[in-house]
Amino acid sequence: MRIVLVGPPGAGKGTQAAFLAKNLSIPHISTGDLFRANISQGTDLGKQAKAYMDAGDLVPDEVTIGMAEDRLDQPDAAGGFLLDGFPRNEQQARALDVYLARHEIALDGVLDLEVPEEEVVKRIAGRRICRNDGSHVFHVEYKQPKEEGVCDECGGELYRRDDDAPDKVRNRLEIYHRETEPIIDYYKKQGLVVTISALGAVAEVTTRAMTALRADA
Ligand code: AP5
Ligand code: ZN
Repeated sequence: MRIVLVGPPGAGKGTQAAFLAKNLSIPHISTGDLFRANISQGTDLGKQAKAYMDAGDLVPDEVTIGMAEDRLDQPDAAGGFLLDGFPRNEQQARALDVYLARHEIALDGVLDLEVPEEEVVKRIAGRRICRNDGSHVFHVEYKQPKEEGVCDECGGELYRRDDDAPDKVRNRLEIYHRETEPIIDYYKKQGLVVTISALGAVAEVTTRAMTALRADA
């Protein structure tokens, strides 16, 4: 399957993507994780992205679209993928459509995670992620690691993302409403959008998502 995941910062896209990708045997492609990996490896791409990310702004399309397409070109994405955090504005959505058409493939669905703003703020305030792998995500209250500050999956150090500071989160939410929400309408016109509530336990949301996508585990 070829799926795009959308939802505000802190909706649980990364958390759900990890389970959905496993259930559906497709790679989880997160542009946020790709940028963070580039930053920690000190690559040129990471250097270009860092200031934007730290401020909670979008990284320019010229950088982002090329990086996303390079990732989609990898052999493991040939049979399907779960895109998390891309596309994030209409220009990126159009670029993805051009890419898909060029490869004679199409999206199967766009999963829209709905969650009230006050819940998003709580989720982000308590989030801790792993230095070794940004897809290892915890929460100080909702998903505590067995040992404080240590990743259950790989033993890596858990830290708070720089862009999770409250003023950055406000900016990210504003950008979400202004730039990213319009792509939901863009995809509605293509009949691709399924909206689910992202409230409740992580496993419940995963079940809801699998049902909405009409996917068999
Ligand atoms: P990115 O990394 O994509 O961040 P985001 O979209 O803001 O999303 P988050 O990672 O904050 O949240 P999430 O929805 O994945 O939630 P999570 O699962 O962690 O992007 C970061 C930055 O990179 C951007 O600001 C931009 O600068 C740049 N960037 C990335 N893509 C770009 C693009 N395409 N174009 C331009 N720039 C781009 O969950 C949050 C917390 O809640 C966790 O602690 C989790 O444990 C907890 N939680 C999850 N589900 C539940 C639940 N059901 N109940 C209780 N707690 C839960
Ligand atoms: Zn880890």
